[in-house]
Amino acid sequence: MSTVLVTGGNGYIGSHTVIALHESGYEVVIADNLSNSKLEVQRRLEKITGKSFKFYNVDCCDKEALRQVFEENKIDSVIHFAGLKAVGESVRIPLDYYRNNIMSAITVAELMKEYGVGKLVFSSSATVYGMSEDVPFTEESPLGVCTNPYGWTKWMIEQILRDFASANPEIKVCLLRYFNPVGAHESGLIGEDPRGIPNNLFPYISKVAGGTLECLTVFGDDYNTPDGTCLRDYIHVCDLADGHVKAIEYLAKTEENVCVFNLGTGKGTSVKEAIAAFEKACGHEIKHVFGARRPGDIPVCYASTEKAERELGFKARFGIDEMCSSCWKWQTMNPDGLAD
Ligand code: NAD
Ligand code: UFG
Repeated sequence: MSTVLVTGGNGYIGSHTVIALHESGYEVVIADNLSNSKLEVQRRLEKITGKSFKFYNVDCCDKEALRQVFEENKIDSVIHFAGLKAVGESVRIPLDYYRNNIMSAITVAELMKEYGVGKLVFSSSATVYGMSEDVPFTEESPLGVCTNPYGWTKWMIEQILRDFASANPEIKVCLLRYFNPVGAHESGLIGEDPRGIPNNLFPYISKVAGGTLECLTVFGDDYNTPDGTCLRDYIHVCDLADGHVKAIEYLAKTEENVCVFNLGTGKGTSVKEAIAAFEKACGHEIKHVFGARRPGDIPVCYASTEKAERELGFKARFGIDEMCSSCWKWQTMNPDGLAD
């Protein structure tokens, strides 16, 4: 049985991917330092799958500690999710972001080389396309100028991993550029569990819907879009998880050293449309006001999904209604998130 090391596998996207890998017959080993997730996720994963996954509480920047994971397991491929991801925080503490995100990626790559592990999937982001308004973004769209240190870490790690793969023909790398992952597992047992007041739209709407937060501020309704609010390509986290299984399968058969895929739905949804869809899912109004634009936001961002469909065989199954209903189920079952 093929074994996948999932770094950051205790986090939001990682935990959903662990389930998808398990359901596709992979053995999974998880490495996570719990800096942005709770150990309770492991108990939830066991409840969902009936399996207790091998879990290492380890910092992926700590080479000797991570070496133990490679020493004790016969790893065939790695999905590297581990990283810090809060855009605003990255502006305040840029060096922490550069150190954590870049050092963890380099450390993982070094150990892969040392232990002869040849397949790496990396969590990149549509943020690498920068401020361009030339949508949809295809994998060939030029990389842009990022607006924050978090975005630059993705941009830089993509380049580092390309160089790593070119210098090491036995290594194959798949860069996955996610658009806007939202939603939760159908069980309602795992989902996005941000610390403090959420920065992103869906966790914020969920908390307003659940009554923990008073009112959503919509950042700008004067954009040049059909209803004046920004369009984003929201993708159900379970679809995104399946995309990782496809990427692992793809790496097993491709001759290419480096491949890049967008993971999105190809459809833009406005903030107003997202609110309306959530209201339908929860059955009541979501209080919101219109405020100023948020610096760094682009009006429209959505993926071209052609390449992922054609080469990976990946197509998102869920639409905005399923994203909202699963989010709402997670919110109602876990109004205060997971316990420490
Ligand atoms: P998350 O914070 O829920 O998960 C990341 C996990 O990595 C957490 O459990 C955290 O404890 C762990 N971690 C962080 N640094 C670590 C380190 N040095 N060593 C070990 N573990 C570490 O985030 P997520 O939303 O699941 O995102 C997963 C990946 O996908 C991240 O790399 C993120 O940048 C990327 N991504 C996320 C989004 C999004 O909107 N959620 C969009 C594009 C890309
Ligand atoms: N928004 C609001 N009010 C809020 C929060 C968000 O109106 O309280 C709006 C934003 O202005 C934007 C849309 O909702 O128009 C989506 O915002 P998010 O913060 O949920 O998502 P972003 O598209 O800004 O960013 C996400 C990830 C980043 C990633 C980027 C790549 O959070 O990590 O997608 O496309 F880099």
